[in-house]
Amino acid sequence: MERFHIETLISEEELKAGIRRVADLINEEYGNTPVRLICVLKGGVYFLTELSKYLKMDVSIDFMSVSSYGAGTKSSGVVKIIKDLDEPIEGKHVIVVEDIIDSGNTLSYLLELLKARNPASIKLTTMLDKPDRRVKPLDSDYSAFVIEDRYVVGFGLDLDQHYRNLPYIGEAVFDD
Ligand code: IMP
Ligand code: MG
Repeated sequence: MERFHIETLISEEELKAGIRRVADLINEEYGNTPVRLICVLKGGVYFLTELSKYLKMDVSIDFMSVSSYGAGTKSSGVVKIIKDLDEPIEGKHVIVVEDIIDSGNTLSYLLELLKARNPASIKLTTMLDKPDRRVKPLDSDYSAFVIEDRYVVGFGLDLDQHYRNLPYIGEAVFDD
């Protein structure tokens, strides 16, 4: 079994300040326009709750679950809908809320699927952005932090379903 330890990459204070900055940008851009936040389960949940606390417009939330990763840290390249939205998004101003954009496979698939449902607008916010690993040409409209190609855990991000509950972003450093 591989051994690893976890090092702090973004502290709880830095993380909250970064998410607060994203909320300020969204408040500035949308003003009083109502928004529908679509959280991608499970990783997006912590970011959704922290971010939405600071939004000033009328906010509604819905959840979607897709899978692109099998067990472990490698992308399987397969995107599957596990749980669809409860409500239609036609005519709504939608912001998709996700933990991290990595290869971009999951989100580019998801955004195309949601655009076909005719929202009034659709944007993407991710807590973290790992641009070095992008295989699909996709940008997050608002991301709190751009990070290097590291495997990170905490604040929703998991390693084989563990560590989502860490209040900070840690890097899983594998010992050799
Ligand atoms: P993508 O389709 O490659 O952009 O990957 C999206 C999903 O992979 C994210 O929503 C995460 O669930 C997962 N993921 C990517 N990088 C990491 C990481 O560093 N730590 C934990 N999960 C990750
Ligand atoms: Mg995820």
